[in-house]
Amino acid sequence: MALVIKNGTIVTANDQYVADVYCEGGTIKAIGKDLEVPAGTQVVDGSGQYVFPGGIDAHTHMEMPFMGTTSCDDFFTGTSAGVAGGTTTIIDFIIPNRNQSLLEARDFWMNNAKKSVADYAFHMAVTWFSDQVKKDMEHVFRHDGIQSFKIFMAYRGAIGVDDVELVQVLDTAHSLGALVTSHCEHGDAVVALQTRLASRGNLAPKYHPMSRPAYLEGEATNRVIQLARVAADGRNGHMSEAKDSQPIYIVHLTAKESMDAVYRARAEGQKVMVETCPQYLLLDDSVYDKPDFEGAAYVMSPPIRPRGHQEYLWNAMANGAIQTVATDHCPFRQADQKIAGKDDFRKIPNGAAGIENRMALMYTYGVATGRISLQQFVDVTSTQAAKIFNLYPRKGAIAVGSDADLVLYDPKGSSTISAKTHHMRVDRNIFEGFELKGKIATTVVNGKVQFHDGQLHVERGAGRYLKRS
Ligand code: URP
Ligand code: ZN
Ligand code: ZN
Repeated sequence: MALVIKNGTIVTANDQYVADVYCEGGTIKAIGKDLEVPAGTQVVDGSGQYVFPGGIDAHTHMEMPFMGTTSCDDFFTGTSAGVAGGTTTIIDFIIPNRNQSLLEARDFWMNNAKKSVADYAFHMAVTWFSDQVKKDMEHVFRHDGIQSFKIFMAYRGAIGVDDVELVQVLDTAHSLGALVTSHCEHGDAVVALQTRLASRGNLAPKYHPMSRPAYLEGEATNRVIQLARVAADGRNGHMSEAKDSQPIYIVHLTAKESMDAVYRARAEGQKVMVETCPQYLLLDDSVYDKPDFEGAAYVMSPPIRPRGHQEYLWNAMANGAIQTVATDHCPFRQADQKIAGKDDFRKIPNGAAGIENRMALMYTYGVATGRISLQQFVDVTSTQAAKIFNLYPRKGAIAVGSDADLVLYDPKGSSTISAKTHHMRVDRNIFEGFELKGKIATTVVNGKVQFHDGQLHVERGAGRYLKRS
């Protein structure tokens, strides 16, 4: 059925105006004042509401096997919660086990993702290296539309790579023209600190952040940036310039030290992109002092940082130095999953939920506080992810020909975040009690109203795989 949004205030990354948006066959067919539409077209009144491009969450982990369990939102529940929160596209991660074929892992994740209600793409994690892995990287890049690779510098002994493997991944990606995304923490040093803390009986959740200090994130961020230069050097018999090095996208950046490494590299001309997440902008490490194992809900990597880092990141975003805000949505229930680490923080599954709250949090604490403009909000929650990951202008835009993924945001609304009312499958919300200004009134996915007036109308399996090119 065709759909028209009447009289909304359309906000894009560089524009703002009142108009109607007419959608048919899943795409935007016309934008203009007082559009004439065919009889039978569904009408949604957008008066007094912002119309944003659907949110793109470039960092999610749905039904991810990790640390002896599986993240508890599957692609159906996770993307549904996303739609309730204004996110209409996710980019999830295929994560092979060490020694597992990339193609086998691809089949596993692609099959799981078929139940998505929103469109999805994948990054391919490279967790080990061999001649076959190199061939598989080429295969997924050329044939499966997977154009970004992910390396974990943390999680040594599991999915983390060492520096030799890291250089090989950077090298292969550079030959292909692919992007490398990186989780930056010095994995071996983290293990050393964990072991020292544990040997002294320091095993409560509050020791998790002590084992992963900001300087170890800064070190790894700087290291991957420097090693990105190796990928380009010597190819034509001479050393390259910094600007020619392998482009890097730093995932879930949390710390001043990391941001400073990025600033230095950019000053040299290197192409480095930065993602952060609402939890690193809005929470500080006092969350780990909560009594009774409640701190476990915040056990994620990198951890929540001490006060000071958050404002540094907000300033970086306001200045355009942070490109995207994703969630790293990786939910584990407190009751039967996080509890595995009751006596040892090293066994608490790392991760937290967030896909449902990202857009409203960024509006409330970014736009409504004056830290970022409406245009920057759209840029960091949608447009930049589409551009960086080759989905633009199909996604991340409100333009004729773009997919009809739209969010109507009512700036007069309000609500309070709570695990009691959210759609994510977890029993805790790390933003519990946060007040929200404005609310998601309607979410349109592929031209269909999938969330309206607080009710989900999603269709299992309606989401499509986005083969990037
Ligand atoms: O703690 C986290 N972030 N868990 C998910 C895996 C990752 O590192 O992104
Ligand atoms: Zn990570
Ligand atoms: Zn992640």
